[in-house]
Amino acid sequence: MTRGRFIVLEGGEGGGKSTQARRLRAHLEGAGRRVLLTREPGGSPLAEAIRALVLGAWPEGVDATTELLLIFAARAAHVHATIRPALEAGIDVICDRFVDASYAYQGAGRGLGAAPVALLEQLVLGDLRPDRVLVLDVAPELGMQRIAERGDNNRFDAESIAFMQRVRAAYLARAAAAPERYVVIDAARDVDAVAAELVAIVEALR
Ligand code: TYD
Repeated sequence: MTRGRFIVLEGGEGGGKSTQARRLRAHLEGAGRRVLLTREPGGSPLAEAIRALVLGAWPEGVDATTELLLIFAARAAHVHATIRPALEAGIDVICDRFVDASYAYQGAGRGLGAAPVALLEQLVLGDLRPDRVLVLDVAPELGMQRIAERGDNNRFDAESIAFMQRVRAAYLARAAAAPERYVVIDAARDVDAVAAELVAIVEALR
C-alpha cells in the first residue's frame, strides 16, 4: 500500500488556513482520495484535551517553556494516535498547523530560539516530515484585522503585531531554507484564488 500524502497548512493568524484546509479536503475527496483533516494543537482525544490547556487563560500565565512542552505533548499523542496510522493506511493527511508553528510561535514569537524546538522535534517526530508545507502568508496587520472581525479568539490572537512579525519572518526563513518542501502562498488574495493554487500544488505531488 502506498503511504498517504502528508500536507501541512501553516501561517500566522488570519491567513485562512482552516477554510483552505476544508476546501482542499473537499477537492481531494472529490478526486476519489481518502482524506483525513486534522489540526494542531489537537487531532486526537488526548491531544484535544491538551489543546484546551494550552489555549486557555491561567491565573499565573503560561510561560514559554510550559507552552512548548504542552504543544509537543499534544503533538506526540496526535502523531501516535492519528497521523502515522492514517498515512500508513494510505490516507492523505491534511494538518492545520504542525511543527513549523512551534518554530514560528515558541521559537521566534516567544523567543525560545530554534534549539529547544529542534530537540523536541527529533524526540517526537523521528524521521516523520510533511511532504509539503503550504505557508499561507499574510501581513500581520491584515491577518489581525481579519481575526478581529471573526471573534472566537484565543491567547495567541491577542499578541502584538511585533510578535506576529517574528512569527511571519520565521515561517518565511524556514520556507526559504528548504524550497523543495515549502511553498509560500500569498494569502491576501481572495479565498478562491488561494484554493486554486493549493489544489495545483497538491495535484503535482505524486
Ligand atoms: P487556532 O484557534 O487553531 O488558531 P489558528 O486558526 O490561527 O490556527 O489556535 C491555535 C493557536 O496555537 C495558534 O494561535 C498558534 C498556536 N500554536 C503554537 O503557538 N505553536 C504550535 O506549535 C501550534 C501547532 C499552534
